[in-house]
Amino acid sequence: MLSLNEISSGPSGGSAWLRVKELEQQQHSLLKSVICGFNQLLDLRDLGTGVHSTRLAEWALRVARKLGIPETDLYQLEVAALLHDIGKIGIPDSILKKEGKLTDGERELMNKHPEYSWSILRLLPGLEKASLYALHHHESFDGVGYPAGLKGEEIPIESRIVSVIDAYDAMVSNRCYRRGLSHDDAVRRLVENGGTQFDPVVVQTFVEIAKEEVADVFAATGVGPTAVI
Ligand SMILES: [Fe+2]
Repeated sequence: MLSLNEISSGPSGGSAWLRVKELEQQQHSLLKSVICGFNQLLDLRDLGTGVHSTRLAEWALRVARKLGIPETDLYQLEVAALLHDIGKIGIPDSILKKEGKLTDGERELMNKHPEYSWSILRLLPGLEKASLYALHHHESFDGVGYPAGLKGEEIPIESRIVSVIDAYDAMVSNRCYRRGLSHDDAVRRLVENGGTQFDPVVVQTFVEIAKEEVADVFAATGVGPTAVI
């Protein structure tokens, strides 16, 4: 197969090069459409992260930038922040929407969702890294998470970021069976669990960013950060 250099330096190099760029753009825009479609699917099954989702993905990127993650990897992180729970599509509603405590068997099935997310995202060319970040978003910093029981820096930093963002979102979101925590209470819990469930450096970075931006985010929801939403 010809390299891009060889294509562009041939007699019709200019037009071949343009065609390659055009195909790349088409592929990128198709991938973007697929990602939007998956997000829509999550909303249809009531599995989206609601009004916060876009802002949470932005926060994930800001945490990543502050931690020095290369710009070239941010797209994969953004996709993982939006679609890490896509595998919940494979979990029955009787478990997903159960109001009471899950049985051991139900919990076991529920805990399969990161593997399901990985199995979906890895099929999309270009999202291989995002699929791995989704696979590990329920690992715990102290090694007791799932599916692989990875510990500390064995867990991809992108997954550690998604884990903090995801937990924050779950805590402040209303569910049919309970009201969400206030921003302050959610932050307190994140800090309390820094070093056990969460990477304490990621928590600290997220808290600093949230402190600067939370007023705007909550203004969009019509409530204050200390109010129960
Ligand atoms: Fe999850």
